[in-house]
Amino acid sequence: MSVTEQPAPAADGEPSAGGDPSDDAAQAHLRDRISADSLTTRRDYLRIVATVSGGLAIGGIGVAAGILHRHGDSDTAPESKKVTDRLAPGESVAFRFPGDEDRALAVRLQDGTLVGYSAVCTHLACAVLWREDRGPAGELYCPCHEGVFDARTGEVTAGPPPRPLPRIFLTEEVDGSVWAIATARSGEPAREALCRQFGESRPEVAARLGCPGADRANESRRT
Ligand code: FES
Repeated sequence: MSVTEQPAPAADGEPSAGGDPSDDAAQAHLRDRISADSLTTRRDYLRIVATVSGGLAIGGIGVAAGILHRHGDSDTAPESKKVTDRLAPGESVAFRFPGDEDRALAVRLQDGTLVGYSAVCTHLACAVLWREDRGPAGELYCPCHEGVFDARTGEVTAGPPPRPLPRIFLTEEVDGSVWAIATARSGEPAREALCRQFGESRPEVAARLGCPGADRANESRRT
């Protein structure tokens, strides 16, 4: 089950993953999509909070980074999605989240850290690949113009990409299965992303995260 998803064929209004630079409008549209976000889940919020807390603390385990798309701006939480039954150190798996056309990548680093990102390059939307054998922790690589992203943070380390890869928040169940539960915009702090998205749809979760105004919202929902 190791990594990479090859570039998807061009769909209506979307450039091929090979990145046809002549289609500026389509590329701009797709870049726009990956800079938005959405999120959420119907699964146990305690699990979500635990995952989020872990992610905020160590920026890795149980959390990953991600994508998002335009309907993310509506703050409507997507359904959580099972990514894989198991992910061993050094392995990655491609999946789609939160929408069926949103390419994403989950990676288990050699130290056990689980990370997730949009697999859509922030330069011209080519597919980003996992390269385990590069550097001390591997790297996320875009073959179109030699773009490189830090595997632990999604930050750009080389090449022309202008922004980090959007993060996707992941969690791991006791049976080893990995789930995608949320996303963030490129460069958006985790707490900010989660508070913005959970604030109205899951006030009880937002309250556990200490989001501004969450206690009042949660209380009013109870009464
Ligand atoms: Fe140019 Fe990824 S599309 S580096």
